[in-house]
Amino acid sequence: MLAWPAWLTILLLVTNLLSLAALFFVTRRMLKLRRQKKRAFAFSDYPVRKAKLEEIAPCFAMSGYGPSPDSEVRFIGGEGVVSSLSDRESWVMAALAKGVKRVFEFGTCSGKTTHVLALNAAPDSEIFTLTLHPDDLAATEFGFGDDREHRDIALSESSFETFYYNGRSSERHIRQIFSDSKSYNEAPLRGSVDLVFVDGAHTRSYVENDTRKALNMLADEGVILWHDYKPGVPGVFAFLNELSRTLPLVHIADTDLVMYRRVRKQLSPA
Ligand SMILES: C[S@@+](CC[C@H](N)C(=O)[O-])C[C@H]1O[C@@H](n2cnc3c(N)ncnc32)[C@H](O)[C@@H]1O
Repeated sequence: MLAWPAWLTILLLVTNLLSLAALFFVTRRMLKLRRQKKRAFAFSDYPVRKAKLEEIAPCFAMSGYGPSPDSEVRFIGGEGVVSSLSDRESWVMAALAKGVKRVFEFGTCSGKTTHVLALNAAPDSEIFTLTLHPDDLAATEFGFGDDREHRDIALSESSFETFYYNGRSSERHIRQIFSDSKSYNEAPLRGSVDLVFVDGAHTRSYVENDTRKALNMLADEGVILWHDYKPGVPGVFAFLNELSRTLPLVHIADTDLVMYRRVRKQLSPA
């Protein structure tokens, strides 16, 4: 019988090792492509149309140097204020508040955004901000479809009775309202508010309630902004996805903000 040559063993070993290495690299590449595809799907799975900043208001027009100086605002940077906005979101809110007369915020929390809104609105502006007083947690009227996690968050965030703006010049513009937003009667402000910020309880029934009231209060050409448009906040996310079928909402790029601008009804020619 012929002896198995040693070189053949080595050759077999080397080819096996090479095949194993090739298999390893091909599998790794395929897994990476699958992850990328999945992530791309997740990003495009935000049904509200995404809009670049320059699309949402003329002050955000881009020049060769970057965002236009018209988007200059007064605000306090540095995130880390409880349950508040990112610096980009604060900048966007502040720029949209520039020169407006009436603002309404659902959900005051620390009052930092309220202060920033007042810093940028018109010199004779009124900034209404509504929040749940820590002694009134029992006044809430959560619905059956309200998720437990965001019910608990709404209650835990209702811990403020004094605010960021207290003792500052912005305070004279601010009308603090303590109320559960379902009990709040918005009728006296009907059709008169230029900018509404919906950022109160993030459960389905409250976002629906606050949005209905925001639409009632909104002036012609007024703007509503909602915060926390993301899948992890299902009460906001699912509701806005549904609302976008009947109202032209836009998701502002690189933020969790969704915006609606009411367009003045054109008079039809006689
Ligand atoms: C996310 S925080 C608001 C953050 C704030 N807009 C900011 O930008 O800093 C939510 C606020 O909604 C308030 N809130 C929760 N449930 C409420 C309810 N049922 N009625 C009124 N306000 C409520 C909380 O007290 C809290 O102040």
